[in-house]
Amino acid sequence: MQPKQTLTLTDNRNGTCYEYPIVDGTRGPSVVDMRTFFKDTGMFSYDPGYTSTASCSSKITFIDGEKGELRYRGIPIETLATKHSYLETCYLLLNEQLPSIEELHNFDLELRHRAFLHEGLRNLFNAFPDNAHPMATLSAAVTALASFYDDHLEICDESEYLEMAHRIIAKIPTIAAFSYRHSLGIPFIQPDIDLSFTKNFLTMLRAYPGGKMHLGRLGHEEIKEVEVRALDTIFTLHADHEQNASTTVVRGVASTGAHPYVAIASGIAALWGRAHGGANESVIAQLEMIGSVDNVDAFIARAKDPDDDFRLMGFGHRVYKNFDPRAKILKSLQDELKEALNLDSRLLEIAGKIEEIALNDEYFVSRHLYPNIDFYTGIILTALKIPRNMFTPIFVIGRTVGWITQWIEFKKDPQSKIARPRQLYLGE
Ligand code: ACO
Repeated sequence: MQPKQTLTLTDNRNGTCYEYPIVDGTRGPSVVDMRTFFKDTGMFSYDPGYTSTASCSSKITFIDGEKGELRYRGIPIETLATKHSYLETCYLLLNEQLPSIEELHNFDLELRHRAFLHEGLRNLFNAFPDNAHPMATLSAAVTALASFYDDHLEICDESEYLEMAHRIIAKIPTIAAFSYRHSLGIPFIQPDIDLSFTKNFLTMLRAYPGGKMHLGRLGHEEIKEVEVRALDTIFTLHADHEQNASTTVVRGVASTGAHPYVAIASGIAALWGRAHGGANESVIAQLEMIGSVDNVDAFIARAKDPDDDFRLMGFGHRVYKNFDPRAKILKSLQDELKEALNLDSRLLEIAGKIEEIALNDEYFVSRHLYPNIDFYTGIILTALKIPRNMFTPIFVIGRTVGWITQWIEFKKDPQSKIARPRQLYLGE
C-alpha cells in the first residue's frame, strides 16, 4: 500500500487541518487511511453498517458493484462457473492459482478421505430436538468439531493451514447432511469415498441406508449428472464474496485468536439471517405465499409501501447496484435446466412476473434493486429435490472455502488487529 495523495479534513470549529493518505488498490475505490484519526482528532468516524468502511485489505475476491462484476483471484465468475468445477474453485481460492490435473486429483482424493466425522461427534446430533432447523445443528456441530482438532489453534506453517482448511471443507457437507437427516429422524448415510464432492453430498442427503437411491415408479432414481453439475455451479457461485456480513463475523472472531472452526460456526450463524443467506429460503416461501401471477401486483405494491415492512426477498444488495452477476448465471442455468429438471412452472411464472415488473418499476429502478443470487437458487434447489430448510446449509457448504481462505489471509496479515470498534454514546 503506497500512498500517493492525501485527503485534507478541516475541523470548522477551530480551523485545524488533518491530512490522511489516500491508498489505491489494484482495482476498485481507493481508501483513505484513517488509522490515526482518533489519535489525531479525539473523534471517531461514525459508520453504522460499515457502508463506507474498508475493514481490511484483501487479494481474494473483487466486486465491482456498479458494473455487476465478480472475480475470485482475478478470474471472472462466469469463467469459473462455466468452465471449472467447485473443487477447482476451492483450490484457486486457497492456493491463488487453478490446479494442474495432478494437483486437482490429489486435492479431490484428500477431501474424499477427510469427509468422515469422528464417531464421537455423532452423539451431538441426538441432543437436538426433532425438527431442529439444520442451520442450528450445523453451527453447533462445527463448534463441536473444534474440540476434536485442538492443534489448529496454533498453526505454524503452510501445510498446517491447508490441512485445517481441507478438513473443514471436506466435513461440512457430511455435517450438513447429518443435520438434515436428524431433523427428519432418518438414519445417517456415511460419505462414499468413490463419489465426487457434490454427488457424495446429494447421496448423503437423498439415499436410503446402504447408499441405495429412492425407488421411484421407473426403478431406482439415480442422481443425474445434470443435477450434480447444477449443484456444483451453485457451490461455485457461493464460494466467496469479499467482506459480506458473515465473512466480517469470521474475521472478527479470527481477530480474537479463537479456533478457526469456531469462527466458521459464527459465520454460519451470521449467514442464517433473512437479510443474508437465509433469503434463499424466504424467496420460495414468498413465492408460495404470492401463490399466483394474479397476486404479484399487490405484493409489489406492499414492497413499495413505506408503511409496510414487507420486502421482496431476493431483491437488493448492499454492493451490487446492477444485476448480481451470480444471479445472471443462475437465470441462464434455470432456463437451461427448465426441461431437464422439470422446474416448477407455477413458481417460475410468478418469479418471472416479479422480475419483469421490478426491473421496470421506478421504485426498484431508482434504488438499484436487482434480483440477487438468492432469487434464483430456490427454484433450482427445489427441482434438485433439496428441501427448503436445506437451502441456507447449501450456501454454507459453498461459502466455507471463502470463510476459511479469509481466515487464513487475516492470520497472515501483519496489519491485522483485534476488531474493536467504538461508539457514539447517547445514553445517560
Ligand atoms: N424490497 C423492497 N424495498 C427494498 C428492498 C427489497 N428487497 N431492498 C431494499 N429496499 C429499499 C429500502 O426500503 C430502502 O428504501 P428507502 O431508500 O426508500 O428507505 C432502499 O431500498 C435501500 O435499502 P437498504 O435496506 O438501505 O439497503 P441495504 O444495502 O442496507 O440492504 C439488503 C441490502 C439487506 C440486501 C436489502 O436489499 C434486503 O433486505 N433485501 C431483501 C433480502 C435479501 O434478498 N437478502 C439477500 C442479499 S444477498 C446475500 O446476502 C447473499
